Amino acid sequence: MAMRAFRWLSLLAAISILTLSSLAFVPESHGNACENCHKDPIFRLHNHKLYSYYQDWLTSPHSAAGLSCDQCHGGDPSTDDMTAAHKGIYSTSDPKSRIFYKNQPQTCGTCHAEVTRSFTESKHFQSLTVYDELAPNCSTCHRAMNRKPYYHDIVDATCRSCHKRDMLNSVSERAEEILRRLNIAKGYLGWTTLYYDMKGWPEQTKQTVAGLSSKYHGIVAKGHSFDLADSDRTSAELLSELLLIFDSAWKECQRKQECKKLSAQKDATP
Ligand code: HEC
Ligand code: HEC
Ligand code: HEC
Ligand code: HEC
Ligand code: HEC
Repeated sequence: MAMRAFRWLSLLAAISILTLSSLAFVPESHGNACENCHKDPIFRLHNHKLYSYYQDWLTSPHSAAGLSCDQCHGGDPSTDDMTAAHKGIYSTSDPKSRIFYKNQPQTCGTCHAEVTRSFTESKHFQSLTVYDELAPNCSTCHRAMNRKPYYHDIVDATCRSCHKRDMLNSVSERAEEILRRLNIAKGYLGWTTLYYDMKGWPEQTKQTVAGLSSKYHGIVAKGHSFDLADSDRTSAELLSELLLIFDSAWKECQRKQECKKLSAQKDATP
């Protein structure tokens, strides 16, 4: 059972992303002269950096959510004139830029308020803003346009590069274990949601799953304060609560031979 369940979980990862979005607050965007000009394929040849930032944006959850460039960079998206459009946009290394490393939490925080509130409680944020020390900010872990990061890559590319003097490697090991649990939790939530979307939700189950889904997002947001003891405890609790729900749904699905139907439906989704 376990093997098949895991095959399902990986198959459904893409779907769970759709159903589990964290519902960030999004102010309205006006026009997209930025995109119209920046998408010009000529940049592939003439200015490769522009080209690659645009490609990153195209495949990011932000583009999927309909965000435009100016919502992070500022500028005027209603004009085709480059100079006018770039008014208020500075190079990343300029402290006036909205994406200068110290300004990023504020910029991202207009939409990701809960995550950012936790982040400002962390030693990372203090090191960054008060002591001017090398510490990660939002784009260190999520990259510029925030392609969806896979947790294992985040730990390898970030935590391990700074916390390696820690002899037991305990920060990175613990972070990886916590994130592994959250990733499985996301898989359980995604599968359970898909199953009951197909067959109809019992009211009680619906409430329980909605509660666990917001608990999941709460734990991820709180995780940005990097209180590992707290995340360790809450992620383990969440996983065992979700396992109960998932397990009973999975058994029901097999008993009623609905899993084949679900599989066919999954293949039909684009
Ligand atoms: C979710 C916020 C966000 C959105 C939306 C976004 N960017 Fe960015 N962008 C950033 C961040 C953060 C950086 C900082 C660079 C880094 O750390 O790699 C950046 C860097 C850049 C850079 C390099 C700037 C420099 O000074 O080197 C370019 C060019 C760029 N973005 C273009 C765009 C374009 C064009 C769009 C729309 C198609 C866009 N961005 C949408 C957040 C965003
Ligand atoms: C008519 C074309 C055009 C429009 C419109 C335009 N850009 Fe640009 N943008 C460019 C070009 C070309 C560059 C390369 C740098 C330069 O020549 O200034 C650039 C550079 C940038 C950079 C990097 C800045 C740096 O200092 O490294 C960012 C960020 C950016 N644009 C964002 C935007 C945003 C946001 C908008 C809309 C509000 C926008 N652009 C509208 C053509 C355009
Ligand atoms: C104008 C609003 C807005 C701004 C500004 C913004 N985001 Fe987002 N972000 C969203 C929306 C909407 C989504 C997609 C829905 C969701 O997952 O909440 C999203 C998704 C994400 C995700 C993927 C979340 C997931 O479900 O796994 C990450 C990571 C992220 N944003 C980080 C950032 C970072 C870092 C910045 C600053 C550089 C930023 N965002 C700026 C609105 C915004
Ligand atoms: C030290 C690394 C690190 C830093 C710094 C960081 N994050 Fe994250 N972030 C993560 C990890 C790890 C996850 C969980 C990814 C997963 O579950 O696959 C995450 C998840 C998220 C999510 C998804 C939330 C959800 O409910 O699913 C958003 C949005 C986000 N981060 C935004 C931000 C913003 C905004 C900042 C800056 C204020 C930031 N992050 C700083 C590592 C980081
Ligand atoms: C760019 C370097 C850098 C990266 C990347 C980084 N950290 Fe840190 N981290 C720091 C610094 C600097 C401090 C503050 C040290 C201090 O003040 O004792 C810190 C502190 C911490 C603390 C607090 C330790 C304590 O004593 O309370 C934890 C936990 C932590 N980091 C976890 C992580 C995790 C998990 C990741 C990856 C998702 C990560 N860090 C990525 C630099 C980094």
